[in-house]
Amino acid sequence: MNTVHSIAQLRAALTRARQENKRIGLVPTMGNLHEGHIALVEMALQRTDYVVVSIFVNPLQFGPNEDLDSYPRTLAEDQRKLLDAGAHLVFAPSVSDMYPEGMDGHTQVSVPVVSEGLCGASRPGHFDGVSTVVSKLLNMVQPDIAVFGEKDFQQLAVIRKMAHDLCLPVQIMGAPIVRATDGLALSSRNGYLDEAQRRTAPQLYRTLQHIEQQLQTGRQDFSAVIEEARLTLTEAGFIPDYLDLRDASTLQPATPETREIVILAAAFLGKTRLIDNLLCKLP
Ligand code: PAJ
Repeated sequence: MNTVHSIAQLRAALTRARQENKRIGLVPTMGNLHEGHIALVEMALQRTDYVVVSIFVNPLQFGPNEDLDSYPRTLAEDQRKLLDAGAHLVFAPSVSDMYPEGMDGHTQVSVPVVSEGLCGASRPGHFDGVSTVVSKLLNMVQPDIAVFGEKDFQQLAVIRKMAHDLCLPVQIMGAPIVRATDGLALSSRNGYLDEAQRRTAPQLYRTLQHIEQQLQTGRQDFSAVIEEARLTLTEAGFIPDYLDLRDASTLQPATPETREIVILAAAFLGKTRLIDNLLCKLP
C-alpha cells in the first residue's frame, strides 16, 4: 500500500492501475479511522480491484465555531489500519494541494433542497463544502464506485443527488452504520466525550429505537412522539439539535402515508455534537 500526497502522484498511480484494467473504488474520509470507515473499505474491496482511501480534513465544510483545529489527525495509525484492511492507495493531500489558490473564490458545488434542513440548518455551508470536496475527489480519482456511510444519512443523500444531477460516471454506494456494542454509532467525534458523557451517549440510539417501536405500533401523532423523545434526551443530559421523521428516499417530512421513515437526530453532549439515524420500514 502506498501513500501519496499530491494530485500528480495520485494520477500516476491510477494510470498504472487503469493500464492493468483494474476497477477502482474510492472511500473519502477525514481520517482518524475506526471500524465504520474500515467497513466502507471492505465494501469497496469486495466490488473493485484497487481501493483508494482519501484522508483530508476539509476546511471548507467546517463552520467558524466548529472543531477544524481540534479534529483528530492520526495519519500513521490510519495507514496501519488501511494496510491491514487491504487498501491499495492512501491519498492524503494538504490544504494547499486541494485549494492551491485558497478557498475564497473557489468554485462551489451546491445541492439544493436535500441539503437544506437537519444538519444543513444547524451547519450553514457545511454541505456545500462536502459536495465541493467530494466532487473534486471524484474528478481526481475517477473511480467506478465510491462508498459512503449511512451514518451521515443526509450527506449520502446530498452526494447521490449531486452525482445524479451532474451525470457523474460513478456508482455511489451506501454502507450500514457500524456501532459500538452498547449501540453508539462509531464516530471520530466520540473521542471528545469524557467518561460520563460516553456512558450517556448510547441513549441517543436507544431513543431512536424507542421512536421506531412507537411507529411500529401504529402511532401517527408524529409531533407528540418526537416531543416525548426530545424530553427523554434532555432528561438524559443531551441538548437536542434536531429530532425528525423524514421520508427515507426524499428526506421530505414524513406523513402517515410514508412507508420508509428515517428517524434522524443530532444532539450535543457538552460541546460534542453527535448524529445518528434509524431506518423504519412500516408494513
Ligand atoms: P468522515 O466523518 O471521516 O467519514 C467518512 C465516511 O465514513 C463517511 O461516508 C461516513 O458516513 C462514514 N462513517 C463514519 N462513521 C461511520 C459508522 N459508524 N458507520 C458507517 N460509516 C461511517 O464524512 C466525512 O468524513 C466527510 O464529510 C467526507 C465525505 C470525507 C468529505 O470531506
